[in-house]
Order: sequence, then C-alpha cells, then structure tokens
Amino acid sequence: MLTRYHKAIKISDSVYWVGAIDWGVRNFHGYTTSRGTTYNAFLIIADKVTLLDTAKEGFGKEVLGRIASVIDPKKIDYIVSNHAEPDHTGSLPEVIAATNPEKIFASKMGVKTVHRYFPDMKLEAVGTGDTLDLGNKTLRFIETRMLHWPDSMFSYLEDEGVLFSQDAFGMHLASSERFEDELPWNLLAEMSEDYYANIITLYSPFVAKLFSSFESLNLDLKVVAPDHGPIWRDMDRFGKQLELYQKWSARKTNKKVVIVYDTMWHGTEHMARAIEDGVIKCGDIQVLTMPLSSCTRSDVAKEMLNASAVIVGTPTLNNQIFPKVADVFTYLTGLKFKTPFAAVFGSYGWSGEGVPQLKEMLTKWEGTELLGEMKVKYQPQEDELKKCCELGELVGQKVLNYINNQNKE
Ligand code: FEO
Repeated sequence: MLTRYHKAIKISDSVYWVGAIDWGVRNFHGYTTSRGTTYNAFLIIADKVTLLDTAKEGFGKEVLGRIASVIDPKKIDYIVSNHAEPDHTGSLPEVIAATNPEKIFASKMGVKTVHRYFPDMKLEAVGTGDTLDLGNKTLRFIETRMLHWPDSMFSYLEDEGVLFSQDAFGMHLASSERFEDELPWNLLAEMSEDYYANIITLYSPFVAKLFSSFESLNLDLKVVAPDHGPIWRDMDRFGKQLELYQKWSARKTNKKVVIVYDTMWHGTEHMARAIEDGVIKCGDIQVLTMPLSSCTRSDVAKEMLNASAVIVGTPTLNNQIFPKVADVFTYLTGLKFKTPFAAVFGSYGWSGEGVPQLKEMLTKWEGTELLGEMKVKYQPQEDELKKCCELGELVGQKVLNYINNQNKE
C-alpha cells in the first residue's frame, strides 16, 4: 500500500521532489550521519513523464506515495538512474514494479553497475551530450565519473535550468525544509563540509576537472537538485557552495592543527595535552584535540579538511596500533587525506610497535612531512612532557610559517 500522507513538493514549473526522508540513519557506510539524510528523487511532468533516481531499499513506498500525490505512478514513461549506489537504486525494483516504465536509462557504467545488483533489469545506456526527448521538454546528460562512483552522471532539464546533480553539492541532512533558502547558511556550510570531507575528498581531482569544464557545459542554472539534502534555488547561495567546493578540492588549509589520539591508562592522553599546550604557545593558531573515546572517524575527517597538521597519538596494544586509531587512519588514508605536516606519539609498556606502525601509515600520505615522533614507557615523566610540549611548538611554528609564506605569495 502506498503512503497516502506523503506529498510531492514542486521545485520548478514541471519538476517535483518525490524523495524520502531518513531521519534515523546514523551510519552511512561508516560515515556518522548525525543529522540523518534524504534520498531525493525527482519527477518531471512532461509529455514523457520521467522519474530521476529512487531511494534506498525500504523507502520505495514513500517515493511512490509522493509520486501518487501528483500523478498515477503507472503514467511514468521513463526512469533515469543518475547514480547506481544502493541509496538511490535500492528501491528501484519496487518502483519499477509499481510503474512499469517504457524505458530506464543510466550511463554506460551505470548500466553495468545496476546489473551487478539487479541482473535482469533492462536499461539503456546514455552518455555525455546525449539528450532524451520528453516531448515538450529535453533532458541532457553529463557523465561525472567518480563523483561519486564510476557510473555517476548529471541530468539537466534544458527548458527549466534544473540540474540533477546526484551526490554532488548534496549533504546528509534530514529536514522538513526542502530548499536551502529555508535553512541558515552556517548549517548548510557545516553539513556540506562534513559531507565533502567524508564522501568527496578522495575525488577532489575529479571536482577540479568538473570545474574546469563547467563553463563549456552552457548551463543556465535556476535550480540545482542533488540526491541528498536541500535543493538549491538561490543561485547566489549556490555560488557560495561552488566556492567552498573549489576551496576544498584545492585542499587549501588554515592555521589549524588537529591532535587525534586514543589512550589506555592516560599516558597517551597526558602527552596529547602537553603537545596541545606547545601548539597553543605559538599564538595565532587553532588547535583541536580529538580524543577518539568521544569523536568519530567522521568528526576527525571533517576537521582534517582544512588542517595544516595532524599530530596522532596511539598506545601500543598487543604489539599493534590501538584499534580506534588504526580505524580512523585507515579511513583517512582511504579518503586520501594529507596535511602538509604530521607528527606521531604514544605511550607503551614493553615493545612499543604502535608509534612506528602509525609512522609507516603516515608515510603513505603523499606530500605530508613527518616532523617528529615521541614514545614514552607507561606514563610520561616531567622531562618527557616538556619534550611533548616542544614537539607541539615545533609543529605549530611550522604551520604558522607555512601559512604566512603562502599568504605572501
Ligand atoms: Fe548517495 Fe554515492 O550515493
């Protein structure tokens, strides 16, 4: 049975938002989505009625309910899958069963990917520059490989200037408001930063490539409709969002040091706090200390986006890096985080493999200069805490010089 209480929201002359709100999701493939998310789907009422994307499995009825508030779902002629990840295709079989569309379109890679999930589904491939004639409207396709998966593409409704940008320019934010101009800018900037850090950082070179070809796409943007979070209809605000994407993709950093650590019996914690004091001594610099007992890997990723240095602390447990530290640094390394500078520290009982293993991990961060390391047995003594403080000062001073030199250029 369809959910009769779910309504569509009009976003342009002929386009309706028919997505789903997931208020409760807190783990999005390892990313802590502290404010839930939306799975946006869009319905174009044209001669050929077209649905763009669906939602995660379990949300099909919500999508179909919203469609039914505008039109009989059986009147849908085409479905376009802009992105094959299951948060947008999980309910595709349910939606197909309820609508029986004439054709389903995806990029060439999209067809291959969707077939890995749904081998019997019939799809037609489209590519950059191809258009789909909707009778009285035209939809144009722009492949955006690796934003976020190899299959990803944008669709652009020529007649109304609506860009369906799937994951790009979105954010994981569940809200009753559908448009960005109904929400405060600070919230949008913060949630976008969180999303970029946890989803897009790895693909920053592809963002830069997209920007380099953006003008040649000849888009007269009136609405930008991503697959997550609010829809952009104030183009001045969307311009600010583009500026943020440009800054993040260029990996511009600030006078900021992030200290990340976990601790067993407070030894590594005491070292972290002494290092923190050393950085603070440098003056005009932000230092953020993140104990992993209370910060998630996603919190750390967000703060790392504009940090110039990371100082990482790990105890040694059973000859290994402490589990939460290994978890966070595996995550950050996968996202291809790098900071201009780094240092490592930690306490240990007898053999102390944690710090060298961490150091080895950080050597894979291309372009990151390792400034120092500190290991202490069990608990740091006064002279060792002084050395920790000096390590913090060294890192802080390097960051200040680095940013000041950049500002001179
Ligand atoms: Fe929202 Fe890459 O899926």
